[in-house]
Amino acid sequence: MRAVTTIRAMQVFADAERSFGRRIGFVPTMGALHEGHLSLVREARRRADTVVASIFVNPMQFNSRSDFESYPRDEARDAELLRSAGADVLFQPTPSDMYPDGFDVRLEVTELAKPLCGAHRPGHFAGVTTVVAKLFLAVKPHVAVFGAKDYQQLQVVRRMTRDLNFDVEIVAGETVREADGLAMSSRNRRLSPADRERARAIPAAIAAAKRAAAGGERDSRMLEALVRRGIESADGARVEYVDIRDAETLEALDILDRPAVLAVAAWISGVRLIDNIILEAGEPTLAALEGTLS
Ligand code: PAJ
Repeated sequence: MRAVTTIRAMQVFADAERSFGRRIGFVPTMGALHEGHLSLVREARRRADTVVASIFVNPMQFNSRSDFESYPRDEARDAELLRSAGADVLFQPTPSDMYPDGFDVRLEVTELAKPLCGAHRPGHFAGVTTVVAKLFLAVKPHVAVFGAKDYQQLQVVRRMTRDLNFDVEIVAGETVREADGLAMSSRNRRLSPADRERARAIPAAIAAAKRAAAGGERDSRMLEALVRRGIESADGARVEYVDIRDAETLEALDILDRPAVLAVAAWISGVRLIDNIILEAGEPTLAALEGTLS
């Protein structure tokens, strides 16, 4: 695996690959890698000739200096994991190369970035879109893979790519979960063993909502309340939001009459976790139908 540390060198490499007719696949990350990230690298491997993974802990998308500074960093382990998952290039730009003195651009998707995490993390998605645009201009990928775990991020990046005519295909990788259902996240390692147990309430609650929706429950408020109760049944768990929205536009949805996403953010003793699930409304049961008609 080749290590590239400057934007200029990355562009020269990308131009050479393109001139040989090779398809570049890209997986951007902030390191502290786990199986979720590696599944995206394998997906890129299937879709491209040359796979570039980046590691850059992007200061612009953090809401607090301490969260940025305490973000886990483990460079030697990450490089080995990327190599074994099939990455050809590790792009690791320096903060001063990405954000030189006087850097003065903020790229923002507006409406899609407002609800859900956007409402609780001001400026976060502008930080994400700015860095992803810069990474695209450095790596020049044909295809880039993003995890569905960060569902709003995926949709925001899709919209930026479409609206600015980036010639990049955006592919979604499925959320990879631990054996008990908890979505893998670099933040999970901050949970104490007891909190790690409590965190299971999150995937359990969203799975229950998925079953209720498949069984005919179409009322978003009912489903949201079910999830909220399920999460708050765990000691020390605090729901930040539970929200059902149109899966594509992220517009609020009262009734499940089209593909929807149920998105959750919750705090387990000071650790913020997010998760989501796509809901498909099943045939309404007789009871649900009677409820609608009366
Ligand atoms: P990071 O949190 O490191 O995540 C990198 C990629 O891995 C994202 O596309 C994310 O959705 C995906 N991912 C994380 N956990 C996953 C899981 N359990 N299953 C599947 N995919 C998972 O997201 C970022 O970094 C940054 O915002 C970034 C896009 C790199 C811009 O700075």
